[in-house]
Amino acid sequence: MRIVSGIQPTGSLHLGNYIGAIKRWAAMQHQAECFIFLADLHSMSEFIPAAQRLASVQEMAAALIACGIDPGRAVLFNQARVPAHSELCWLLNGVARMGWLNRMTQWKDKAGKNRESASVALFDYPVLQAADVLLYQATHVPVGEDQKQHIELIRDIVLKFHNDYDCEVFALPEPLIGETGARIMSLRDGQAKMSKSDTSDMSRINLTDDSDLVAQKIRKAKTDAEPLPDSWDALEGRPEAKNLVTIYAALADETPAGVLGRFAGQGFGAFKPALAELTVETLRPIKARLDQLREDPAEVDSILARGAEKATAAAAPTLDAAYDAVGLRRRG
Ligand code: TRP
Repeated sequence: MRIVSGIQPTGSLHLGNYIGAIKRWAAMQHQAECFIFLADLHSMSEFIPAAQRLASVQEMAAALIACGIDPGRAVLFNQARVPAHSELCWLLNGVARMGWLNRMTQWKDKAGKNRESASVALFDYPVLQAADVLLYQATHVPVGEDQKQHIELIRDIVLKFHNDYDCEVFALPEPLIGETGARIMSLRDGQAKMSKSDTSDMSRINLTDDSDLVAQKIRKAKTDAEPLPDSWDALEGRPEAKNLVTIYAALADETPAGVLGRFAGQGFGAFKPALAELTVETLRPIKARLDQLREDPAEVDSILARGAEKATAAAAPTLDAAYDAVGLRRRG
């Protein structure tokens, strides 16, 4: 099993990123070969001032390490240091169709009504994502539900590339969609995803929030007046309650049913303090490690440099084979 996954360097991480992506990666690095990267090339789809882009990559890399991504096990790097991503993206651009990209939900959502002023990089985003995955012969790509369509697109690109150039260069990757813990919702609205772009900071728990703030956000989280039931199905129609139980289960490495088994019959007056304590205790060592790494930018930088070296070496045979296949180089 070979796993590739990336995250956009937005600057700071919240509990939704941690539970939905990073905690899963940290578990997978013990079972599979993992390539984990900061998608800084993808961040070119929006304007970000240069200094901010650099700082975000640095901060997010530190956060991933603090959350348990072990650079001794997983190959951790930022895309921009591995030119093979841009190179393969360009070759795949010859195969991907406008019509395919036009159907992508993320493109439609992000471009909105004003497509004429969206960047070309935003439109091409899924092709770069295809290059990310294909370079490393990934068999599985752990992503959220919202990225499933992009992984299906990668498969279409592979099939057309192989068919057009009569070759077999890439592995066909499969999405690995997380179960219950994969989608953590806003603390203010159980229908909206927890997001860095939500205008209310009370809607999310940032990995850098101090203990009092975490406790306060959980205390003020939207809920209902009913006690917790003894089964998951009985939470139907109670999205906020579901979300808090999901967070608890994910952080405690338990099933939601197991959590409900213990809290059934109790109200949020009892459940919220327990959840707050669990969250604070989970974040404590992460924040401590993050503080250390922030003091030592050179250490983070050298981890990324080493990761990029390994990634470059791992990507080389596939990139070479792709150049050969399309006739940009004579077959060696
Ligand atoms: N598009 C992904 C997201 O928004 C990030 C990403 C970029 C990615 N390249 C990838 C995920 C390759 C998995 C594999 O979450």
